[in-house]
Amino acid sequence: MSMQAKKRADYQPPVFTITDVKMDVRLHPTTTRVETTSQVKRLASEGNALALDGDKIQLDSVVINDQPHSDYQVVDGQLLISNVPEQFTLTIVNTIDPQNNRALEGLYLSAGTYCTQCEAEGFRRITYYLDRPDVLATFEVTLHGDKQQYPTLLANGNPIARGDNDDGTHWVTWQDPHPKPSYLFAMVAGDFDLLEDTYTTSSGKPVKLELYVDKGKRERGHFALASLKRAMKWDEDTFGLEYDLDIYMIVAVDFFNMGAMENKGLNVFNSKFVLADQDSATDEDFFNVESVIAHEYFHNWTGNRVTCRDWFQLSLKEGLTVFRDQQFSADMTSPLSNRIKHVRVMREHQFAEDASAMSHPIRPEEVIEMNNFYTVTVYDKGAEVIRMFHTLLGPQGFRKGMDEYFRRHDGQAVTCDDFVAAMQTATDLDLSHFALWYSQSGTPVITVSSVFDDSTGKMTVTLSQRTAPTADQRTKAALFMPVTFDCIDSQGNHYSDDDGLVKDGMVILDKSELTLTFSDVEEPLIPVILGNFSAPAKVHNDLNAAQLLNVFQYAHDSFNRWDALQSLYSWCINCYEQGTPEAVDDTIWQGLEAVLTGEADNHELLGECLVIPSFETLCQTRSQVDVAALNSARDAFCQAFSVRLAEPLKAIFNSISTSAYTYSQQAVNARRCRNQVLVHLARLDDQQGAIKTQFAQADNMTDTLGALKAAQAGQRQVFETLMEEFEQRWNQDPLVLDKWFGLHATTERDDILSQLTLLQQHPQFTIGNPNRVRAVVGSFAFFNTAGFHNLDGSGYKFVTDYLMELDKVNPQVAARIVTPLTQWHNFSPAHQQLMKTQLNRLLGVKELSSDLFEKVSKSLAYQSNSEQ
Ligand code: TRP
Ligand code: ZN
Repeated sequence: MSMQAKKRADYQPPVFTITDVKMDVRLHPTTTRVETTSQVKRLASEGNALALDGDKIQLDSVVINDQPHSDYQVVDGQLLISNVPEQFTLTIVNTIDPQNNRALEGLYLSAGTYCTQCEAEGFRRITYYLDRPDVLATFEVTLHGDKQQYPTLLANGNPIARGDNDDGTHWVTWQDPHPKPSYLFAMVAGDFDLLEDTYTTSSGKPVKLELYVDKGKRERGHFALASLKRAMKWDEDTFGLEYDLDIYMIVAVDFFNMGAMENKGLNVFNSKFVLADQDSATDEDFFNVESVIAHEYFHNWTGNRVTCRDWFQLSLKEGLTVFRDQQFSADMTSPLSNRIKHVRVMREHQFAEDASAMSHPIRPEEVIEMNNFYTVTVYDKGAEVIRMFHTLLGPQGFRKGMDEYFRRHDGQAVTCDDFVAAMQTATDLDLSHFALWYSQSGTPVITVSSVFDDSTGKMTVTLSQRTAPTADQRTKAALFMPVTFDCIDSQGNHYSDDDGLVKDGMVILDKSELTLTFSDVEEPLIPVILGNFSAPAKVHNDLNAAQLLNVFQYAHDSFNRWDALQSLYSWCINCYEQGTPEAVDDTIWQGLEAVLTGEADNHELLGECLVIPSFETLCQTRSQVDVAALNSARDAFCQAFSVRLAEPLKAIFNSISTSAYTYSQQAVNARRCRNQVLVHLARLDDQQGAIKTQFAQADNMTDTLGALKAAQAGQRQVFETLMEEFEQRWNQDPLVLDKWFGLHATTERDDILSQLTLLQQHPQFTIGNPNRVRAVVGSFAFFNTAGFHNLDGSGYKFVTDYLMELDKVNPQVAARIVTPLTQWHNFSPAHQQLMKTQLNRLLGVKELSSDLFEKVSKSLAYQSNSEQ
């Protein structure tokens, strides 16, 4: 493993390439034999040796053109083969150990199922290979396994032959005609329940759909399969893109580092993004299943047919595919709640990443461990950048650009610049300035300042932008941003600017400053910007409480309306922080009451507006956070909210009936609103009965979990009783139990650490399963504000101790969970000191993984930077 950073600027095209691969794999728990025969061709004259990547594999033999070849050495995880012809057949035999592969990269055993995970650099744990995305080859794979234990043997593409061996094993040969990089390679062997269907593409080609799930879980697979068909249809309708093989397979496994993987024709999924039924899955789970199924399906074009030249270009496929799955979800469900959901992710996690030592542009410049760059920046900010193309070019222009992208690059491994160039053909706008979004990191702040001149009736509104220096980049330039702009008065009239700079409600901010002027104005107008979150930026717009309520009342854009209330809540919490809760006066409570009564039937908007900004979101508009102070200010405001608005809240709760469960948008909105109200009511002593009733009567997991979440915010005794009952009911169901683990781990209580220890001793808990680890330790580190940030340092130490163990098992997951510790910069000096102490302990660990090393060392280095 290398601790050396690789730089984007150092990219070199491959010296050799591989055009065709045949593999013969004999599965065995500890000694799986892999024989790989590759057609190798020299592309460039420099360098004599063929250098193949390999990791944690035992090499048995090297044969060139049927002759044993001994002129090779293994250096720094590479197999260097010297004295090779210009073009030749290379056969490598090696052995691997799937059972002891607990990092879940390469070939591993997941609860009795063999499966692979090759992105980003996992194929090198299967065999020595040119393990880089710009080497594309066709693969033919023959898989041998025990016939009884592993009746199903899968790989990419189409099955072309099968048979029995005389030792109790059988074999299947799979052929994938589409040249692909090794990261899209996959194999699976197991004994599954199978759900089958067919989809006929718009050009009339039938595609077999196969969904493989654990035995006994068949009934939980129907929704995923239906989602897949909706995604296939949507991509045809929206982008004219059809599927390109005869068969599309999805396998659900319990042990998986991420959400899912888009292997060509053979997706492998974390079972939590496949299995869903009304009893065991929440509305949110259903939503996530549909969106992840779609995401992986959409990769077939944006990722597989057109792939990345090198891993610095990851956002080429991920940002684009996240944007595509977001658009799909918005079309399947509702645009507003989707948008809010994604903006929350940006504000809670991406802004935090931008402000941290791990700050990087959506196209990173420097990487030690690629697994660390599957980030909210590359994925979600990447999707925001694609969304801005969509906004600037319009749906038709965007489609035209996408068509050109596929026309130029189908079958190729390309760069983000290639994508921008294709988009450029579809617009008269000059995109060269816009492209700065790919190379500049950090969150731009747009400041709105207005001057009103009573005597002339003129008003000017100035938008200025600034991006603060980040850990990775000192100097920043003005970005090119589409900014929606609306201007209202206290009566709800809308105004246009004198010069018509605002077109169709949008203005381009491409310099550090822009001024709009308004004439014949009788009162200071209220500027409302960044509707629908039209650019991934923070906004400083100094509106008072009355103005924010005006925005809620009158703004055209629903996102702006929701956001105005978020700003109002943040302002109120600030009053509590400053010790002036009385500043949140009657007019404000009356305003909020009017919101509740006025929108009582708009369950979608109201449900969103009843969510008080999370602690993590509040942190992003504050610095040097004193955790206990902010947390208790937030808590006190929530308490006041429940007490002051009890009557309208109860009225809403009672007005939404719990009818028999259906997963329809209207029903989802109603449940969401009702459960959100219940969280507020839970703070009232006389409402505990409502929680118990809902828990007892729920016919679906959404309402059951809604009751538990409310109880978590309410009386301890009620919470404990319901949690016990829940555990008894779901003890044998790990996916459901993860919700229970997560609720316990995020509960604020003095003895939280001994609680966590108990959870880790639970029969269903195992350090080897990422879902369990995330549910317990991840939930605690990310979301148990009081416990993790306890000023006695115990929370930080607990997580660190755990990460030391976890790093030996699964570095990729360890490096994700360390994230909150690395973001010490946001907190007050007392916290910073304690957090850095723990980071230093980690850095001192012998044989620390490259994953943890990169994040921890960067985080500690940031310390010296900011102290200079
Ligand atoms: N490409 C996958 C996606 O679509 C990401 C992914 C799945 C992944 N498993 C991984 C990335 C393991 C790195 C390591 O989101
Ligand atoms: Zn993806």
